[in-house]
Amino acid sequence: MTMHEPHAPSAETAAKSHADKATYEAMYRASTQDPAAFWAKEGKRIDWIEPFTKVKDASFDLGNVSIKWFEDGVLNVCANCVDRHLATRADQTAIIWEPDDPEGETQHISYAELHEKVCRFANVLLSQGVMRGDRVVIYLPMIPEAAYAMLACARIGAIHSVVFAGFSPDALANRINDSEAKLVITADTAPRGGKRTALKSNTDAALLHCSDKVRCLVVKHTGDQITWIDGRDVDVKAMMETVAPDCPVRPMKAEDPLFILYTSGSTGKPKGVVHSSGGYLVYASMTHQYVFDYHDGDIYWCAADVGWVTGHSYILYGPLANGATTLMFEGVPTWPDASRLWQIVEKHKVNQFYTAPTAIRALMGKGESFVEGHDLSSLRVLGTVGEPINPEAWEWYDRVIGKHRCPISDTWWQTETGGHMITPLPGATATKPGSATLPFFGVVPAILEPEKGTLLEETVTEGVLCIAESWPGQMRTIWGDHQRFEETYFQQYKGYYFSGDGCRRDEDGYYWITGRVDDVLNVSGHRLGTAEVESALVAHPDVAEAAVVGYPHEVKGQGIYAYVTVMNGVEATDALRKDLEAWVRKEIGPIAKPDLIQWAPGLPKTRSGKIMRRILRKIAENDYGSLGDTSTLAEPEVVESLIENRMNR
Ligand code: WT7
Repeated sequence: MTMHEPHAPSAETAAKSHADKATYEAMYRASTQDPAAFWAKEGKRIDWIEPFTKVKDASFDLGNVSIKWFEDGVLNVCANCVDRHLATRADQTAIIWEPDDPEGETQHISYAELHEKVCRFANVLLSQGVMRGDRVVIYLPMIPEAAYAMLACARIGAIHSVVFAGFSPDALANRINDSEAKLVITADTAPRGGKRTALKSNTDAALLHCSDKVRCLVVKHTGDQITWIDGRDVDVKAMMETVAPDCPVRPMKAEDPLFILYTSGSTGKPKGVVHSSGGYLVYASMTHQYVFDYHDGDIYWCAADVGWVTGHSYILYGPLANGATTLMFEGVPTWPDASRLWQIVEKHKVNQFYTAPTAIRALMGKGESFVEGHDLSSLRVLGTVGEPINPEAWEWYDRVIGKHRCPISDTWWQTETGGHMITPLPGATATKPGSATLPFFGVVPAILEPEKGTLLEETVTEGVLCIAESWPGQMRTIWGDHQRFEETYFQQYKGYYFSGDGCRRDEDGYYWITGRVDDVLNVSGHRLGTAEVESALVAHPDVAEAAVVGYPHEVKGQGIYAYVTVMNGVEATDALRKDLEAWVRKEIGPIAKPDLIQWAPGLPKTRSGKIMRRILRKIAENDYGSLGDTSTLAEPEVVESLIENRMNR
């Protein structure tokens, strides 16, 4: 018996949607029985300059991992997202831009306008010597220029790497250097929630650590005062006025990289996830259509940031490939107050809305009064992504926002997967709160026994989540380090892509993601490696050693709990605690600031010196009664003292 009854789509929803249950089942069967035939057909949903004849060529064999889709096809992603729609929908709004300040001016950018802006932006890039295959780092807030910049790169075959505007100068510098970018695009300052982030000055600080050949394009967005370095800095908006309004598209091979996006792993520095052009776009487009049951004329809103993969696939590439009207919001859900999102839904009559559990929980905490009085009747489908959604938040989303009328798509996927992997389809899948339900077309999930790596074939089972077959949106490599790509995803479980997540399958074959099984944290839907936070902490002169774990947090999902051993002679004071918080903010960004710091005179280690994180996690969870086997500890008394001084009670 499951705790909650499944929520089946109504007959009306099923009839109007792209796929009802029978269609889903038939298409899913076809997609796994003959993937080449299935994707050969779906590959034609986008325009090809030269059609592909090969469909799938993928190997997950360690030492020989290679993933290719539509390999001999030639296309341009920007042409598919912009030019292709000019004949039929030049005057339709492509992007609705809603500024941070509710009193500010909304923009409606038509496909014709988008075409001109993107062409001009591309010509600016060309004038700066950006060539096919060059890397361009984009460090912009949620403004239309972020979309222009990404599409302009795609148009001329440059590879973009968007860095979330909340990241620090150091994080930005690391990404510019790792990708060997030729150019960085930023803005003067970024308004968000009524505050301003000094992006240009962050970029100036970052560029001190980069080659002096890196040029800097600046979008003057707020007009705030900034420092200007002649010869290096370029005023993009001014220059866009002077270049030609048209720019030819560059024919690209399907496997040419479209973008790099850095994401955290369990060890080492963030890795540059590389996505392709052809397979990625086919997959982003198809998932956007089916998972949100998108139809022509719909107003679609994904409230993520373009700095994350969700913004890439589901603000920009998927929706624009489908000729959608996509909404871009500069602000935050809780400013000026917790009604902002619902004001926007009402104002623009949004049909599909996509956000993260952490936002839902934050708004739930503010109370229903902020929702009341807003007309949400335009909403048809709700989506969630980023972390497992707790059933309370799911029920609230369903009742208070969806009024029990809107199917909820709880979409499980990752930066690495390019698009949705396990998710309901609105007209097809009966949902269960907290379950991502069933695989998307072509996705073959496999649950493995974590230690032995054997395939668990029973329907009801639990283990680690792997994927057995390639899909078109799959990442192709780690930028500059194919070996790390193989080791991270294909080494531990031979012949499978390993997701890093734990998972349970129930009696109906539904998948329930249980969270990461590695040392990756998920804080408000943002991914962080414990190793990254630890290395930021130990870089502080007063810190001798640090261990970081996650613990359950009411709003963020996971909070960051840091155990810190100070240097000999250093006093562990509240002032130092504040200093360390500020330090991590500066080293990585505000999202990495530890929620709790516990002073640890020592850390529990095995005799071989390995930190026993399992124990630290238990103490952080305030669940120290069941520490399990502690017999391999070098100094068992360390644990007693940590329990006594634990921070989460
Ligand atoms: C990790 C990937 C994909 C865009 C946002 C995050 C967790 C993501 C769900 C979900 C349970 C989820 C997983 C995954 N996750 N969506 N619907 N249910 N967990 O992308 O930063 O690459 O993080 O987020 O743990 O591995 P990401």
